[in-house]
Amino acid sequence: MYVGQPIDRIDGRHKVTGAALYAAEFPQPDLVHAVLVQSTVAAGEITGFDQSAAAGMPGVLAIITPDNAPKLNTDKKAQQTVTAPLLQDRSVLYNGQHVAVVVADTFERATAAGATLRVQYRAGEAVTDMHAALSQAYPPKRFRNGERSPDSTRGDPDGAFNGAALKVEATYETPTEHHNPMEPHATIARWDGDRLTVWTATQAISGAQRTLATMFGIDPEQVLVICPFVGGGFGCKGNTWPPATLAAMASRVVGRPVKLVVTRQQMFTSNGYRPATVQRIRLGADADGRLVSVRHDGITQMSQPALGEFAEPVALATEMLYACPNAAITHRLVGVHAGLPTYMRAPGEASGVFAIESAMDELAVAAKLDPIELRLRNYAEADPSNGKPFASKPLRDCYARGADAFGWAKRDPAPRSMRDGRVLIGCGMATTTYPTNRSQAEAKVRLNADGSAIVQTGSQDLGTGTYTVLAQVAADALGLPLHRVRVELGDSRLPPAPGSGGSQTAASVASAVLAASEAARAEAIHLAIADRGAAWGGADPGSFDFRDGIISGPPGRVGLSDVLGRHGVRQIQQSATTSPGDAKKTHSLHSFGAHFAEVRVDPDFGTIRVSRWVGAFDCGKLLNAKTAESQLKGGIVFGIGMALLEETRTDPETGRITNANIAEYLVPVNADVPDIRTIVVDSADPVTTPLGIKGIGELPTVGVAAAIANAVYHATGVRVRRLPIRLEDVLMA
Ligand code: MOS
Repeated sequence: MYVGQPIDRIDGRHKVTGAALYAAEFPQPDLVHAVLVQSTVAAGEITGFDQSAAAGMPGVLAIITPDNAPKLNTDKKAQQTVTAPLLQDRSVLYNGQHVAVVVADTFERATAAGATLRVQYRAGEAVTDMHAALSQAYPPKRFRNGERSPDSTRGDPDGAFNGAALKVEATYETPTEHHNPMEPHATIARWDGDRLTVWTATQAISGAQRTLATMFGIDPEQVLVICPFVGGGFGCKGNTWPPATLAAMASRVVGRPVKLVVTRQQMFTSNGYRPATVQRIRLGADADGRLVSVRHDGITQMSQPALGEFAEPVALATEMLYACPNAAITHRLVGVHAGLPTYMRAPGEASGVFAIESAMDELAVAAKLDPIELRLRNYAEADPSNGKPFASKPLRDCYARGADAFGWAKRDPAPRSMRDGRVLIGCGMATTTYPTNRSQAEAKVRLNADGSAIVQTGSQDLGTGTYTVLAQVAADALGLPLHRVRVELGDSRLPPAPGSGGSQTAASVASAVLAASEAARAEAIHLAIADRGAAWGGADPGSFDFRDGIISGPPGRVGLSDVLGRHGVRQIQQSATTSPGDAKKTHSLHSFGAHFAEVRVDPDFGTIRVSRWVGAFDCGKLLNAKTAESQLKGGIVFGIGMALLEETRTDPETGRITNANIAEYLVPVNADVPDIRTIVVDSADPVTTPLGIKGIGELPTVGVAAAIANAVYHATGVRVRRLPIRLEDVLMA
């Protein structure tokens, strides 16, 4: 069995040798280069362009502005379609908005001409800080694609709170954050007549195909999207953002293939961000710490509505995390002059669970209870938001095994009680949860007479190991050595598969690959029985084994190549489409886990170091213990960044992002990350997928910031309710 084993990535050698090609690296004859020109005001209108100098510069092929840009079909709100800013009008809605595209024969000449282009504005009044506009918060129009209300209430949360013995009321804040994958957005676009080919960095080749077809008014079949490798996405490559569409527009204008690579600075204004939040939490409990009332009011930053809508669902986890008869959640938006926000690793949960799991720690202090004991007293056996049973929920095991591995029992619960010399030591924990998502997917398996197989599906590998885990699933089902299975992804001509977001890729696509592989295996056995005629007639196909190209069973054995040869066929082909079925109707589908953090705080300098980490997770059955561990560790590192480093800063006067680079936008480096121990509790989830898998990518990020904030409280006695936690927050006399 390959499934579950810690197998190296099958594409690892390609990546380290440079043989793996990313979107910007596909050679094209006659290729020219496009660069984006961005607004320098946050609001208002473009009154004119002075192109005289730029247009005459060497190599310049086109200057595309709202005055001459081809009209796009931006009315249809196709899924994952971002319809602005696409040079369709002269309005300016944020500082850094694309206002022109310059195309030249080299990147350097395009950049120089772009810098020379003069844009005149009539600047309008801009709102740049959501905190200044909280009173204008409004409910989202299409929360969760219109599938549910942004607000919900069960029982009587206000009445129960008023009568509660223990109360916690606090506001938690998180800043705007940017994804910063290693690979920036990049697109090469080429038109052949009315057919468009794009090599583009995307988490959803299917979404890119639909969006570009919609924009240019052509059929999806006329758009070919190629993306065999993605250098990280974390959500910012989920939608098809304007740079991809503008590359295709530029190619149409100049009639040549165009490459558009977004600069690192432009990555801060081109493809969404995790919006800032202000979250008010109110918990009421009885004297034993049993929750009687939970309330979570989340306000998140939005752009101007003309750019679209994105509502970060910060309070959804609060609704289902703990047993409590009375609960209310609300979601509100505050529009500012900034780009459209978007999904960023665990959108909703990452920000929201920081708030609720910090508040639970505050309640544990108020109740004089160990934080784990508090959580066990409020353990939800079924989903309290809808009464459905959880498909699986071994969260008690996560608490127990994580606490044991961490040595939680050795913690002295009093704040400022643990020291190593002059350095304060703090231990904190938090729960994590994330929904288990799955979508319809199709896969095709070709089993060749020579004992090799090709697996095809229109998914994409974000760097998480999709190629590898699909090869493992197919190799097991087909009885083949792993190296005889080739997996093809990242091409819109392959069978349709969903976008890679919401941690759903493995659950969706591995299910389809399993079904197609099993169908191919069944056909091989069927053909063999038929091939042997009367000798094997009436044999039960279920009694046969198929391994290394040999079909064997009670009546005897035969090689697949012989069988296929006699039938005059070179390969067996099977496709399968799988869908999640009714699992979500009958069950609540979530993964869970518990984080345990140790921090060391220098009381004189306020420096906070994460010194130890244990995370125990229920993420279903693992397809690959090595890629799973990498994702779990990467998710925790992502959370450490959120807790202590990451913050996008905006100049309140101009609305301009002031740290749009990875020198000043801080992300964790090795020195910021301790040895991380991850534990995966034994839990197959047979309800969600036939393979028992639940998805991993986002779960480990959720709860990390709360565990660190709780550890900082334990170390210092200072409760920090605003991220990132800064040294000045904990400096004390
Ligand atoms: Mo993820 S933020 O759903 O790419």
